[in-house]
Amino acid sequence: MKKLRLGIMISGRGSNMRAIVEACRQPDFPAEVVMVISNKGDAAGLVYAHNCSIETAHVNLKSFEDKDAYEAEITRRFEAMNVDLICLAGYMRILNDSFVQHWQGRMINIHPSLLPKYKGLNTHQRAIDDGEAEAGCSVHYVVPDLDSGEVICQAKVAIDAGETAESLATKVLVEEHKLYPHAIKLIAEKF
Ligand code: GRF
Repeated sequence: MKKLRLGIMISGRGSNMRAIVEACRQPDFPAEVVMVISNKGDAAGLVYAHNCSIETAHVNLKSFEDKDAYEAEITRRFEAMNVDLICLAGYMRILNDSFVQHWQGRMINIHPSLLPKYKGLNTHQRAIDDGEAEAGCSVHYVVPDLDSGEVICQAKVAIDAGETAESLATKVLVEEHKLYPHAIKLIAEKF
C-alpha cells in the first residue's frame, strides 16, 4: 500500500510533530513524514526531525517580498517532495487564503478545544472561566476562516475542581498526541 506523504508545519516545541513521527515508525502505519517546515529557525521540533533523518527547512517570512511569496515557497518545497497532506502542528501564523485554498481538503490542524467552542488562543483559560465540565482537542480540515473547517475527530478530558490553564493544557496535550495520528490514519485509509 502506498503511504500518505505528510508535510508538517511547526513554529516551536513540536511535540505533536514528534507524536506523528513516532506513529509513522510503526510499519503498518499508513503515512510517512517526508518534510518538516518551520517559520522559526530555533524551533526545537526542527532539531528532532533532522535527527530522525527527515528533510527539514526553516522558511523565513523576512526573506520574502510578502506573505504570498513566502507561502508560495512553502508550497514549492512541499510539492517538490510530493506531499499529499499538510499537518499544521503548532504553526503559529495565520495562513493567507490563497495558500489555504491551494491545499484545501489536503491540510489539517490540531486545535486545543472542542470545536466549534473556543476558536483562537487561550482556549484552556476560557473554558475554565466559563465553568465548562470538559475540554479537549480537535483535528480539523483547514479553511480560510480560523479554526472553522470540518472536524475529523475529537478527544475529551474532564475539567476538575481547581484546574488551571497549565494543568488542563498538560492533560489535553496527552490526548493531542494520540488524536493527531488517529486523524491521519482515518484520512489515509480513505485516500
Ligand atoms: C498544541 O497545543 C496544539 O493544539 C496547538 O499548538 C500547540 C502546539 O504544541 N495548535 P506542539 O508544538 O505540538 O508541542
